[in-house]
Amino acid sequence: MVKAMSPQVDPSSSPSNETKAEASCECSNESDVKLPQVGRVYSVKRLDGEWWSAEVLETRANENKAKRVEYFVHFENMDKRLDEWIEIDRFDLEKGELPKHSKIELEIANDIGDRKLTRHQKRKNEIINSHQLINDLDPTTAILEKEHEELTKVKYIDKIQFGKYEIDTWYFSPYPDEYGKQSKLFICEYCLKYMKLELTYRYHLGECAARRPPGKEIYRKGTLSVFEVDGKDHKIYCQCLCLLAKLFLDHKTLYYDVVPFVFYVLAEVDKVGCHVVGYFSKEKDSSENNNLACILTLPPYQRKGYGKFLISFSYQLTKIEGVCGSPEKPLSDLGKLSYRSYWSWIILNILKDSTVMLSIKDISRMTSFNNNDIIDTLSSLNMVKYWKGQHIICVTKKAIEEHLKAIEHKKPIIEVDSDYLIWEPPKKQIKQNKK
Ligand code: ACO
Ligand code: ZN
Repeated sequence: MVKAMSPQVDPSSSPSNETKAEASCECSNESDVKLPQVGRVYSVKRLDGEWWSAEVLETRANENKAKRVEYFVHFENMDKRLDEWIEIDRFDLEKGELPKHSKIELEIANDIGDRKLTRHQKRKNEIINSHQLINDLDPTTAILEKEHEELTKVKYIDKIQFGKYEIDTWYFSPYPDEYGKQSKLFICEYCLKYMKLELTYRYHLGECAARRPPGKEIYRKGTLSVFEVDGKDHKIYCQCLCLLAKLFLDHKTLYYDVVPFVFYVLAEVDKVGCHVVGYFSKEKDSSENNNLACILTLPPYQRKGYGKFLISFSYQLTKIEGVCGSPEKPLSDLGKLSYRSYWSWIILNILKDSTVMLSIKDISRMTSFNNNDIIDTLSSLNMVKYWKGQHIICVTKKAIEEHLKAIEHKKPIIEVDSDYLIWEPPKKQIKQNKK
């Protein structure tokens, strides 16, 4: 393994030359070692210490690290959320350039779990999802998918300061102009304003009067609150929320057109203020009967039950509306896991408690889940049969009880207590010029 010094870039070079860092450092390097090139694949040390083939997608001189050159790499066959800005010391340059998709020293994902990883590395490694291959898609979707990949392949912002947390980001987010090119952004946890400099951020914290999300508090139990924020009334806040969320979502494309959406923001409340934990958005008038467009729990709060709380909350609202609903597709890997776990738990408990035979429609009426989601969930549990053009629930009480025992640990940790929910469906806008 060749150790190369981290090259420095001429401080007088203009910021627009950032991506040219590679060229300038090649000239200044005196050794024979060929520096990593954009578009080429090398052996790179991952966070868990394994060597893996990775493609260099971009280079930059990091302003926050004395303009040291960094390389944005994508680990082959891994989720984009593991893409990273790294320095030269993480490359094995002795091996030189590798062929694409060489899968060198490719470990099986399961293997990784056995190693001693930090909590952060574990989180990053746990879901190594197999993205649908572009080749498997229909031509139009494939073109859109390719365009999306091209536009979002480099994640410039790799950290944010948000309240007391410094959070590693997962994906590209289209923050405007030079904000989008920072390696770290500072975001006010109350008004969601984003800033480039820590100094500006500290000053803002002294000036900012907000201590809670805007809009109406519609739920408060103990230290948990949910605020309803209309995209029309609080445009800037909702746009900032979408930009923040995109850092952790690969596929959602809504950033600026927030008017047709309402945002339900979950916060932990203490003496200082309301700290945003996550949110979900909901289209005011969904033609597909979607009751949730986008859901996010911020990484420091994940895996504590907030995701399922938000999912449950979305169905409580749908119940009050007297309809049924479903989340907008596609679901992310983590979205699928959370929904599947939530649906299974609720449906199995209804079946367990029922004294009569229930149909899919009955369950839909009781839960506000749509028929397809119920059928999919029951199919995955092997509890449904297709009989004379209809899906029939086909399971014994004993099988339900056994199954519930096996998933006891999946019981939603934080329940929505509907006694604390004060909400009326917003009045639907009267569609003018409707013919
Ligand atoms: N690896 C494996 N399982 C996980 C992980 C993980 N990293 N994170 C959550 N889970 C599982 C939990 O174990 C739990 O399942 P279980 O009870 O069966 O064990 C389930 O997901 C939900 O756990 P919660 O603690 O209730 O959910 P959390 O607060 O972590 O939030 C969410 C889930 C919102 C999907 C979160 O992971 C997230 O924000 N991800 C990034 C954004 C995203 O992908 N959103 C969904 C997009 S799809 C859409 O918006 C319609
Ligand atoms: Zn603020």
